[in-house]
Amino acid sequence: MIGKDVEKAAALLREGKLVAIPTETVYGLAGNGLSEMAVAQIFAVKERPSFDPLILHVSSIDRVEEYTHELSTLARQLAAAFWPGPLTLVLPRRSIVPDLVTAGLDSVAIRVPGHSLTRTLLSKLHFPLAAPSANPFGYISPTTAQHVAQQLGDKIDYILDGGPAQVGLESTIVSFINDTPQILRKGGIPQEDIFSYLGKEIPVSTHSTSNPQAPGMLAKHYAPKVPFSLANQLADNFFDSSGAVAWITFGEREALPNGVSVFNLSESGDFYEAARRLFGLLRQLDGGNFEHIVADLVPEKGLGRAINDRLRRAAAR
Ligand code: TXA
Ligand code: MG
Repeated sequence: MIGKDVEKAAALLREGKLVAIPTETVYGLAGNGLSEMAVAQIFAVKERPSFDPLILHVSSIDRVEEYTHELSTLARQLAAAFWPGPLTLVLPRRSIVPDLVTAGLDSVAIRVPGHSLTRTLLSKLHFPLAAPSANPFGYISPTTAQHVAQQLGDKIDYILDGGPAQVGLESTIVSFINDTPQILRKGGIPQEDIFSYLGKEIPVSTHSTSNPQAPGMLAKHYAPKVPFSLANQLADNFFDSSGAVAWITFGEREALPNGVSVFNLSESGDFYEAARRLFGLLRQLDGGNFEHIVADLVPEKGLGRAINDRLRRAAAR
């Protein structure tokens, strides 16, 4: 059931039930982050492997120290600059956080989300919300309540509808576990902005299944079911057997091959507009009559880096 009733959402969560929640990045599948039972349900509904840890969502920076015993000066600086917002910090964990949330790691991922409905919801609860993106594992993240309903509607009790996500890409994850902070996932806050607030550049890790720093960051992710390729990787004879092609592009583009259907993420070349539209467009094309989806990469700067990251993962084999 979809609705805007925050009290109802809060009551269900207090009972240990799951509720899909709106955030400025993507919709989350939320449960009581201190309840092993609720967290286990999240993994079951998403069909998510248990080695992939979850993010705890809290109402304000004041609540963060309930779950970590160490918020360094740099971490504080980033939190002050970007929370509430699309930033997740990976911090040393306190033992109150269930092992299931952290996949047994000594660290915990925490974020203060920016959506007003979810902030109201969090302020009514005495526990943090563990919430991965509200999609079946490996599929495209949901940016509307309807996306959630299409796939998980019959598996959860309530979907809190906060309208379309304003950012449209998942949060940027910064780890403060080692001496040098590190970006573990490119996301809604461009790395350039992170660097400028930290006053220095930090490493940006390349994710893989074998990278224990980012256990959930599989090369293949965010993937539509229709075959998906990057434009710069098409075989020479691609069009001989491609069937109906949807071509995702960005900004001004030279003429595309005859017969393809063109979908422009942002004709004016606005990364923020492109990010907002990306996942919805992928879903739309996946449910259409296309036999192949092709995407141009966008310029590799600012939010474009996170957009390209998602496109590359969607195309990964
Ligand atoms: O924008 C977002 O971050 C959304 C909204 C709902 O908040 N959530 C989200 O969650 O994208 P999820 O579960 O789809 O992705 C979270 C990622 C995991 O894949 C995992 O790799 C990483 O966060 N993560 C969580 N805890 C971690 C930890 N302790 N160390 C390293 N990475 C961690
Ligand atoms: Mg996800």
